Amino acid sequence: MTAYVSQPTRAFCSLLTACFVALGGAHAATEGSGQKPLDVPFVPTPQHVVDRMLELAQVGSNDFVIDLGSGDGRIPITAATRYGARAMGVDLNPERIAEANENAKKANVIGKVEFRNQDLLQTPISDATVLTMYLLPSVNMKLRPRILSELQPGTRVVSHAFNMGDWEPDRQEKVDGRTLYLWIVPARVAGKWQVTGKQGFEMQLEQEFQKITGFALVDGKRLAIDDGRVEGDRIRFSLDGTTYTGQVHDNRITGEGWSAQKI
Ligand SMILES: C[S@@+](CC[C@H](N)C(=O)[O-])C[C@H]1O[C@@H](n2cnc3c(N)ncnc32)[C@H](O)[C@@H]1O
Repeated sequence: MTAYVSQPTRAFCSLLTACFVALGGAHAATEGSGQKPLDVPFVPTPQHVVDRMLELAQVGSNDFVIDLGSGDGRIPITAATRYGARAMGVDLNPERIAEANENAKKANVIGKVEFRNQDLLQTPISDATVLTMYLLPSVNMKLRPRILSELQPGTRVVSHAFNMGDWEPDRQEKVDGRTLYLWIVPARVAGKWQVTGKQGFEMQLEQEFQKITGFALVDGKRLAIDDGRVEGDRIRFSLDGTTYTGQVHDNRITGEGWSAQKI
């Protein structure tokens, strides 16, 4: 199991928390507004780190990027200006939304980018093909079950500074001492499958994030599933010395020379 908060991550966590305290906590931004307190203070991601976050996610013109807690809008605006992506940012602080709209106007991306003054924890995320976050570990962990269940397999999730507990990232890198994490939402494959092909058998898969374990019943013999992994909608495992690779579409897997149906 990976450490939940690494040493450098702890430093950034302290930085964010220190800014929060210096601002007088959540109430500084929301006092008298009757609004829910902020879960995270505003600390912008430096522009060159934003650029790397979007590169890591391989953002393209067909993407819809959602930045949860969008601050001055720099991540959605960069996704639109550099990659031609559609993008949305949400922030609980109306001042940040006004600032982000002003920045979108200056960057000439109105129509490509939208900012909403709403709670990120209540924001529907299922349309995102890329999700970006610079939040806090506790907020990432609140979002994790929704990321795993609501986002389409293959959706890229990039977090600046904070991980998601024991869900290991698919990639991780440092930019100027800041850690960036990339996860690719794995297809949900746990359950019982009927495999057909050269060899027909039933298999039971267990899933922990990208990792798959389980067993197959082949000619009455119980055999272990080895080296099982899902990356986006791609699945790979070995059984009795044979490697199976395929593509998952909901309750069906199709591979070369084999397929499987959820039962
Ligand atoms: C660390 S800043 C990140 C800003 C921007 N994403 C970036 O990377 O430059 C976090 C932002 O989240 C916003 N925020 C905090 N709690 C929120 C919540 N519950 N819903 C929406 N936005 C929130 C804050 O106002 C702040 O702008």
